[in-house]
Amino acid sequence: MNAKTVFVIGAGAMGAGIAQVVATGGFKVYLNDVTMDRVARGQKQITNNINRNVTKGKMTPEEGTAILGRLTYTDSYDKVAEADVVIEAIFENLDAKKAIFQKIGPMAKEGALLATNTSSLSLTAIGSVVPHPERFIGIHFFNPAPVMKLVELVVGLKTSPETIADAMEFGKKLGKDPVVSKDSPGFLVNRCLVVMLNEAICLYSEGVGSAEDIDKGMMLGCNHPMGPLTLADMVGLDIVSAVMECFYTGFADSKYRPALLLRKMVEAGTLGIKTGQGFYKYDANGKKVK
Ligand code: CAA
Repeated sequence: MNAKTVFVIGAGAMGAGIAQVVATGGFKVYLNDVTMDRVARGQKQITNNINRNVTKGKMTPEEGTAILGRLTYTDSYDKVAEADVVIEAIFENLDAKKAIFQKIGPMAKEGALLATNTSSLSLTAIGSVVPHPERFIGIHFFNPAPVMKLVELVVGLKTSPETIADAMEFGKKLGKDPVVSKDSPGFLVNRCLVVMLNEAICLYSEGVGSAEDIDKGMMLGCNHPMGPLTLADMVGLDIVSAVMECFYTGFADSKYRPALLLRKMVEAGTLGIKTGQGFYKYDANGKKVK
């Protein structure tokens, strides 16, 4: 596949991170969200990251300018028809994702690769609404997308072998190292990772240890780069909760029961870094406040 243009839907932390990675990979990128305010937040994240990379000497000012110049910001789907690859990266909600693909599926260029960044939802269900489900695949990036090497390619019931090969080639062009998963709740990584985060929240809510000690234990005892409660705050407790709920209902197995405290924190709007409060407090720059 000779892809040149990519349309990213959702300008939150993941969508903006993905757009940055794709523009850095040399592609022309449209970054879309429902309002220009939201799009502007994504633009700010990308511009700050690129400027930081220039300041650190990781790229020249000219390279930084060229990357930023490949990005266009939009609140409409007008340019979907131009894209060789469309990547949806909105919040974890099956109906919302299906509604987007129902709308853009018929607008997409013939042969375009349609992808979702879902962390856990059924790829087959989301892909069921597009005219060519054989061209539909999961391309799951990890947070922070510009740093993490992995993309997980998720194969739905109707995804064709050619689509898997194209997504593999696309992932490699982005400098990522892909793995392939069948369509099962949480795929390969979140099935392991998010259950561990949920268990850390259970430990904390049972008072077995402090947040700091649970995190320190996993960092020093298992060599994790950050502790599970810090990571849950970074991922967003709404996402962690949505993934656990997806396991709980998807497998109908009590071993995936979401921690009650996790549900309550989400109900309270205490979502981690993005709201300034999760298991820890954060300042406006997302740094932990002691
Ligand atoms: N965006 C872009 N770059 C970032 C970044 C961000 N949000 N956060 C950190 N970086 C960059 C820094 O600029 C720095 O770059 P240089 O090495 O070029 O200077 C580099 O990453 C390291 O950052 P720091 O020195 O500030 O901090 P660190 O060494 O502690 O690394 C980390 C930060 C990369 C986030 C590291 O702690 C880590 O790997 N944590 C685990 C992350 C993880 O598990 N992610 C998966 C989440 S689960 C998920 O995404 C799946 C899902 O569906 C829920």
